[in-house]
Amino acid sequence: MDVNALRPLSGPGRKLYIETYGCQMNVGDSEIVLSILQGVGYRLAQELSDADVVLINTCSVRDNAEQRIWSRLRYLNSIRKRHSMLVGVIGCMAERLKDELHENGVDIVAGPDSYRRLPSLLDSALKGIKSIDVELSLEETYDDIQPVRMDKNGVSGFISIMRGCNNFCSYCVVPYTRGRERSRSAESILEQARILYQAGYREITLLGQNVNSYCCEDVSFAKLLGRVADIAGDLRVRFATSHPKDLSDELIEMMASKENICKAIHLPAQSGSDVMLQRMNRKYTREWYLERVSAIRRLMPQCAISTDLIAGFSGETLEDHQATLSLMREVGYSSAFMFKYSLRPGTFASRHLADDVPEQEKVRRLNEIIALQNEISLNVSKEEIGKTRQVLIEGDSKRSSLQQCGRTSQNRMVVFDSTGLCPGSYVNVRITDATSATLFGCVIKD
Ligand code: SAH
Ligand code: SF4
Ligand code: F3S
Repeated sequence: MDVNALRPLSGPGRKLYIETYGCQMNVGDSEIVLSILQGVGYRLAQELSDADVVLINTCSVRDNAEQRIWSRLRYLNSIRKRHSMLVGVIGCMAERLKDELHENGVDIVAGPDSYRRLPSLLDSALKGIKSIDVELSLEETYDDIQPVRMDKNGVSGFISIMRGCNNFCSYCVVPYTRGRERSRSAESILEQARILYQAGYREITLLGQNVNSYCCEDVSFAKLLGRVADIAGDLRVRFATSHPKDLSDELIEMMASKENICKAIHLPAQSGSDVMLQRMNRKYTREWYLERVSAIRRLMPQCAISTDLIAGFSGETLEDHQATLSLMREVGYSSAFMFKYSLRPGTFASRHLADDVPEQEKVRRLNEIIALQNEISLNVSKEEIGKTRQVLIEGDSKRSSLQQCGRTSQNRMVVFDSTGLCPGSYVNVRITDATSATLFGCVIKD
């Protein structure tokens, strides 16, 4: 299969422009939306100014994510005076703010489980009828839809393996915007992975809000991961995200047993304090989390561990905050996504737990967490100096076409002098220098 067969179609048709915010699930969903709309004649517009329809795939996870989208909508409304086009909001914010969006001039509002109905929603909107569909489903996985690939390099692709979340962490809006957990069939995932491999992709990331609870007809996530890895030895497999409470020994053993399952695991801790973890409804303790980390280290000493952390959640004392800092030091995360707590309407926390850490203090704690993580990331990076790592080439480096870049199995970006090899090739690179986010090295010829 030629990679172009998976890429957006060109040629005549109504022009659709898609902007994607939020997590990788949304990136994957935009590829499904394009596939559905190409099926009824729409073609992807490269520029906003060419668009007949603009769809914004949105995120509600924190207030600032939503504020960014409101400001984008105000901009779109202002240019519509000169340039007529339909504006649609899809994704998590559509699910959460349906009516409010409508009242603010949005023509189409479609939640994450309504994308098959976008063609008819667009038809109605074209006739001037405002269209809204935010029904959540217990079954929808879009598993029969071949996403139109919009990644840049043709080397790494995503496959959504499950949708929704049943965990109800007390601060989090995702279970409300994405609905209940459901897994798609292993066969459909494997077929999509084979298609990507045949089209030249060499790295697949299996996606879900909590991939560890993937389960379909007795296929566990560990088994699924093993089967995708068995497609070909030179196909790398990654996954995101895993909830610590469901990180099984079976999964760690599977990762350790296959070279091409990448040695990187994203394991959101959120906090290092047991009091906070309980208030957050994370269903594990610090001790339990650290035991999982030791299990990973025991079987895969080379495995990178990254995380998500929240500063200033309800009731967080200085002692709780210190516990987060000490957890970070103890684990030695290779990287982290760090946030200050943002109250989300409708969540358990918004109803029962006061948002009582003052804004300034939240910022101070967050900055402390970020500064510490920068230090830790740099140390973890520096430990790579002198090692030889296998790197999957993704393309030219951002700074210069005389250099290429790619990732190690541990998900670190490496920059090295151009090899003349195409993206998708593997090279061994000896690491010679490191910053907190990037490694530099020389290719070893064999
Ligand atoms: N399913 C994933 C996370 C999805 S949301 C998981 O549980 O690992 C991504 C991250 O956003 C979360 O891990 C959390 O750190 C952060 N987050 C979620 N809700 C938040 C809120 N209300 N305020 C601040 N950060 C939040
Ligand atoms: Fe949100 Fe928790 Fe589900 Fe992650 S596991 S999406 S943080 S409710
Ligand atoms: Fe945001 Fe929805 Fe993802 S709220 S983080 S886009 S699941």
